[in-house]
Amino acid sequence: MKLREETAADIPLIRALITRAFAPMPFSSQTEAAIVDALRDRGKLSVSLIAEDEGNVVGHVAFSPVAIDGADLGWYGLGPIAVAPEWQGQGIGRALMDAGLALGARGCVLLGDPAFYSRFGFQADAKLTLPGVPAEYFQAATFSGDTPSGEVTYDEGFSAS
Ligand SMILES: CC(C)(COP(=O)(O)OP(=O)(O)OC[C@H]1O[C@@H](n2cnc3c(N)ncnc32)[C@H](O)[C@@H]1OP(=O)(O)O)[C@@H](O)C(=O)NCCC(=O)NCCS
Repeated sequence: MKLREETAADIPLIRALITRAFAPMPFSSQTEAAIVDALRDRGKLSVSLIAEDEGNVVGHVAFSPVAIDGADLGWYGLGPIAVAPEWQGQGIGRALMDAGLALGARGCVLLGDPAFYSRFGFQADAKLTLPGVPAEYFQAATFSGDTPSGEVTYDEGFSAS
């Protein structure tokens, strides 16, 4: 299993993987694959890392820029992240997170289960808000400088369906 940036040939495999990984998740809008496509089309898929095993895409994570009170402060949104069901629980999610977070963002936000993401240094922070979601699920990690304050806006690609 190795991690690398996506190539054009991976795109259909990424789409299929994300669809399969999120299919059983009750919280899922089932739009995650469309979101990654939309981010890519809009030039906002800053990092698209895959985990590959013998030509199969078994894991994927996307990072895209977010605005904070409308400003680009070098912060990114992490997600969606997906590991193929039969490969889950073997450290691939952790490896994708670690590799993506090492790529030089000042900070990252994400929406997800605190039980999973707290181990990567993410926590809810009252300074950074995302309207319309339960505050404890919106988490941030700061990698350099101070944590900014403001309302976070994801790229429009997240409205894709
Ligand atoms: C979430 C997901 C990406 C994790 O990938 P993974 O390869 O199974 O994760 P890892 O094996 O690297 O696990 C990392 C750690 O998180 C834990 N973990 C994994 N999934 C978890 C979950 N849903 N809740 C809490 N902890 C979880 C593991 O036990 C492991 O802990 P450990 O290092 O102490 O042993 C994967 O389960 C997945 O694709 N799920 C479906 C899609 C999804 O829910 N994506 C996230 C949306 S917020």
